[in-house]
Amino acid sequence: MRSCTGGNVSLTTGDFRSKITTQTLAEKKQNGERITALTAYDYATARLVDESGMDVVLVGDSLAQAMLGYENTLPVTVDEMIHHTKAVRRAVKRAFLIADMPFGSYHVSCREGLAHAARFVKEAGAEAVKIEGGEKRLELISKIIDAEIPVCGHIGLTPQSVHMMGGYKVQGKTLKAVEQLMRDAVALDRAGVCLLVLEGIPREVAAMITREVHTPTIGIGAGPECDGQILVFHDLVNLSFGPTPKFVRHYADAGTLIRDAVRDYCADVRSGAFPSDSESYHLPQETQEALQIVTSRRTARK
Ligand code: KIV
Repeated sequence: MRSCTGGNVSLTTGDFRSKITTQTLAEKKQNGERITALTAYDYATARLVDESGMDVVLVGDSLAQAMLGYENTLPVTVDEMIHHTKAVRRAVKRAFLIADMPFGSYHVSCREGLAHAARFVKEAGAEAVKIEGGEKRLELISKIIDAEIPVCGHIGLTPQSVHMMGGYKVQGKTLKAVEQLMRDAVALDRAGVCLLVLEGIPREVAAMITREVHTPTIGIGAGPECDGQILVFHDLVNLSFGPTPKFVRHYADAGTLIRDAVRDYCADVRSGAFPSDSESYHLPQETQEALQIVTSRRTARK
């Protein structure tokens, strides 16, 4: 049996159930098993996330803020997203790997959107692409699925529409908006998306959509009734700057941990406590003796 080993996870061709696929995600919804999802943007983090047993890893365009320090997700490019997705691909062995299609990469034409989606699969090794928007993205999403590329939908608070929404505001609060969200969800479900992210909407609306569609829903700021949950890695470990949204829970304080470690290192370098003798390399005994003879001869000659 052929086998491939990556870190602590060992996959064999005869044990493919352990690899998360579109099929296992659909089965999880059918079996009422919640789906876990998290973002990752680099090799080290993605390895830790994958080895922790995460079902879905998303290389989100939120990397524009979390990794690159931009104010919103709009400036990040396809090439930058592919660069990060490749790094994450090298780390992720078990989780289902999704890459975000960034702003501008699918807005010009379906043809261009499809070409960019194919790059994420071909060059970066993504297993699906995520696209923001409902009914108005239907033609594009159907074409991408037709090209054998699984698509993750994303409706509600769609960060790439920040200027149209007039800021990051909870969506779906009026009857008209709820009805539009339902239409969006049903349209994407019928088109055959493999997952549907519901972001920043009332839990009641997310619950209704989750009951209505066959596609597993993944919530972020959409309450507990979704089929799964996703967070931004940097929010989960408190490595983000700026105000914390209501839906974020910090499971660790990596910011404080890293700041304290770096301060301790600086203090030790300044005091001479780092590096110690045991953290230094030494000459072999015979080289040391030979060096001593040479040095004493030179001193005697002077
Ligand atoms: O870019 C992102 O990180 C996202 C999710 C958090 C859903 O779109």
